[in-house]
Amino acid sequence: MFRQLTYFFIAMIFSPNIFCSESVNVYSYRKPQLISPMFIAFTEKTGIEVNSIFAKKGMLERIKNEGRNSPADIILTVDIGRLADLKNADLTQQVSLAQINKNIPENFRDKDGHWFGLTSRARIIVASRKRVSEGSINTYESLVNDQFKGKVCTRSGKHPYMIALTASIIAYSGEEKAKQWLYGLKNNLARKPQGNDRAQVKAIHEGLCDVAIINHYYMAMMLSDPEQKKWAESVYVIFPNQDGRGTHMNVSGAALAKYAPNKKNGLALLKFLSSNEGQELYSAKNSEYPVSGKMSRSSLLESWGEFKQDKSDLNKIADNREAALMITDAVGYNF
Ligand SMILES: [Fe+2]
Repeated sequence: MFRQLTYFFIAMIFSPNIFCSESVNVYSYRKPQLISPMFIAFTEKTGIEVNSIFAKKGMLERIKNEGRNSPADIILTVDIGRLADLKNADLTQQVSLAQINKNIPENFRDKDGHWFGLTSRARIIVASRKRVSEGSINTYESLVNDQFKGKVCTRSGKHPYMIALTASIIAYSGEEKAKQWLYGLKNNLARKPQGNDRAQVKAIHEGLCDVAIINHYYMAMMLSDPEQKKWAESVYVIFPNQDGRGTHMNVSGAALAKYAPNKKNGLALLKFLSSNEGQELYSAKNSEYPVSGKMSRSSLLESWGEFKQDKSDLNKIADNREAALMITDAVGYNF
């Protein structure tokens, strides 16, 4: 017993990791089950422990309040809007690593290196299998046709997903055209905008509307939920604007916190997340697309096949968010 204890203490003296193990702190807007597989892989690879806290709301305010004492190293969030908000609130710092810049296409990262897209999501159109014949809708613009009067459902026009879509239309067609489009969309609504993306598909299933705009991964979520499966099965998927600019893409991404206490480890995590392995682990968990390269995908995504993505720079879309919000108010979209 005494000999075993002696060995144990000797081992502790010569193993620096026992007393001060390396770690990195992650503030995550994303649920623990979505991010834990990649953290486990990262720790196995580097020996760096990942401590993560999950906050669905109020993360920006929390980091702001913690100020210089914030333990946050890496911030994980979804949507270009939230990433841009972190940068604009001066809560992030610049990262300039050739490897990360090589892993992530330019249109999916901040021009100043303050945030990086890690997975991407398509804003798709879904249409009733029963009531909408295939081929009758193939662009976001065609949603405003008279044919769909009183047949369109969306969530609030002010939700970040909708604002990013409107901002992408401003980027492509200009403010006036985008405003006309949103006005036309509002005029075709079946009901006041409400609920989340899945609620729109449920509404199609219930016959309240025929077409809706949603993020693609909700189809995967609904298909694996016993209650929601029938909602998803009542619609088919359309990747809009395939003959033009392509389907609008948004991202989930990461940023290095301004006062990251473990900056070196934060950068190591960022590098891992941007790698093929990191992107693959992350995107698979939520049925998203990696931001670069062709990696293995779920059978559902494989069944949808390849599609043309709108390669608009997310920096530009982020810059257009304010105008998108103004247009949404101007046309009274939510009323
Ligand atoms: Fe979402």
